[in-house]
Amino acid sequence: MAIILGIESSCDETSAAICIDGEIRSNIIANQLVHQHYGGVVPELASRAHQQNIIPAIQEAFSVAKISKNEVDAVAFTRGPGLLGSLLVGTSFAKAFALAKNIPLIEVNHMQAHILAHFVENPKPDFPFLCLTVSGGHTQIVKVNDYFNMEIVGQTLDDAAGEAFDKSAKILGLPYPGGPLIDQYAQSGSAEAYSFPEPQIPGLDFSFSGLKTSILYFVQKNVKADPDFIQKNLPDICASIQQRIISILLAKLKRAVAEYQINQIAIAGGVSANSGLRNALQELGEKKGWQVFIPKFEYCTDNAAMIAIAGYHKFLKKDYVDQSIAPLARMTF
Ligand code: KG4
Ligand code: ZN
Repeated sequence: MAIILGIESSCDETSAAICIDGEIRSNIIANQLVHQHYGGVVPELASRAHQQNIIPAIQEAFSVAKISKNEVDAVAFTRGPGLLGSLLVGTSFAKAFALAKNIPLIEVNHMQAHILAHFVENPKPDFPFLCLTVSGGHTQIVKVNDYFNMEIVGQTLDDAAGEAFDKSAKILGLPYPGGPLIDQYAQSGSAEAYSFPEPQIPGLDFSFSGLKTSILYFVQKNVKADPDFIQKNLPDICASIQQRIISILLAKLKRAVAEYQINQIAIAGGVSANSGLRNALQELGEKKGWQVFIPKFEYCTDNAAMIAIAGYHKFLKKDYVDQSIAPLARMTF
């Protein structure tokens, strides 16, 4: 039997999970509401909140899984990419725990873990599959050849899809993180109400900075004419912005499928929680005959279950690291 403790602290969620023989038994997520007042994650505050949250989150993970800390076989932690001060908290805890219990230490790449969230529950994709990974910091199309053999075949040249959501929300005066709020308002709006430009980027890469600028100008122009423009039209504006972000993402995904001739398609990362994207991908998959994999909501945004499952697959290969390991703000694969 293999019991893995997974720890995630790359941004503003402190999370701990227990995985037993590849099955998740607990996944505790402590959110940090403090950042809402600042319109974005404040790194120093995130780091301090991780320090407060990490021990209660881990204790809760043990308690829900009905496991004692002496039974853990290995500890897996997010090494990067992320905010260095946040990563340091999870990394330091994981190192100390492994040292105290004399058990192996396993480093996990956060972006790979988002993709490996598809191995938490059934149905699981077969290799190779294509994964559109969309989060607050990344937008990538990844060709997943095996658990840890992944190739980035397309990525954003500027903002990530999550940033496109969050920055648009900020322009509309919504609090951080604005992605889920745009999703919520969009549900009662018309996606055809306004049309925002689609960037012309060659190949499989993305760009969202032009969209952000066009939204800013659009809002400034309309608010000048009518100061209540946003309040009066919020659902329509949100639905139109969301629709454009989704169309940019899915256009590149279609292109990747044609190029690689792979029709198992997955989405991962925080933006994969977006209901419009989930529905549009499901519909497109049915039309095109793709096998589509969409994670459960709790495994889309940052969580330790995905770190524990990635850790479990590294544990099977005895892929361990030693105490000299340090977190990395930037990390690719
Ligand atoms: O993966 P994640 O939790 O953290 C990072 O690794 O970045 O992704 C966070 C991003 C944020 O930009 C947030 O606004 C976005 O995911 N997000 C959403 C939704 N839920 C989270 N964006 C659109 N619609 C949602 N429902
Ligand atoms: Zn993430």
